[in-house]
Amino acid sequence: MNIYLIGFMGSGKSTVSKVLAEKLSWELIDTDEYIENKTEKSIRDIFADEGEEGFRNTETECIRDISLLDGKVVSCGGGAVLRSENVKLMKESGIVVLLGAAPETIYERVKHSTNRPILNGNMNVDYIAGLMEKRKPAYDFAKDIEVVTDDKTADLIADDIYSAIFENCNLGNDDVDEKLS
Ligand code: S3P
Repeated sequence: MNIYLIGFMGSGKSTVSKVLAEKLSWELIDTDEYIENKTEKSIRDIFADEGEEGFRNTETECIRDISLLDGKVVSCGGGAVLRSENVKLMKESGIVVLLGAAPETIYERVKHSTNRPILNGNMNVDYIAGLMEKRKPAYDFAKDIEVVTDDKTADLIADDIYSAIFENCNLGNDDVDEKLS
C-alpha cells in the first residue's frame, strides 16, 4: 500500500510528505521529481516543449510506475487528479489524502514560485480561487481522507494523517478499510 498526498499547488504536499515518510520510515516519491528524472527535463521545459497535454501524458506514465510499488509516501503534482486513470491507479494501490488550504494561504506559499507553469501570468488569489473551485470535484472524488493545513505545522499535519490512517482505521471506505485491516 502507498499513501498518496494530493491537493492544490502550495497545499503543503512536499513538506508534509517528507515528515510523514520520516515518521513511517517509508520512502518518499515526489511525482514531479520522478517525472524530471525520467524525462531528464524540468517541469517548466516539458510544459514549454510539449504543452500541458504532453506533461499530463508523462505524469500518467509515472503514476502508473509508482502504483506498482509498495510502502511509498507519494507527493502528487496538483493536477494529478484531473485524469480519472491516475485516480484509479492511486486508489487501487493505496490511500489518497487530500491536503486542503484556503486560496489566500496557497497564494502566500506560491507567490514567488517560478516553476509552476499553470500559474504563469496568473499569480493572484482570484485566479487561484477559481482554479481550485474548478478542480474541487476532482479532489473530492479522489480523496479517501482530507486534512486541513491552514495554520498548522507540517509535523502536526503528518500526525493528523498518521492517526486518521493508522489509528481510526474505519475510513468508511470498504476497499481502504480492507487494505488496512
Ligand atoms: C501542477 C502542479 C505542479 C506540477 C505542474 C502542474 C498543477 O505540482 O505538477 O506544474 O496542474 O496543479 P505541485 O502541486 O507540486 O506544485
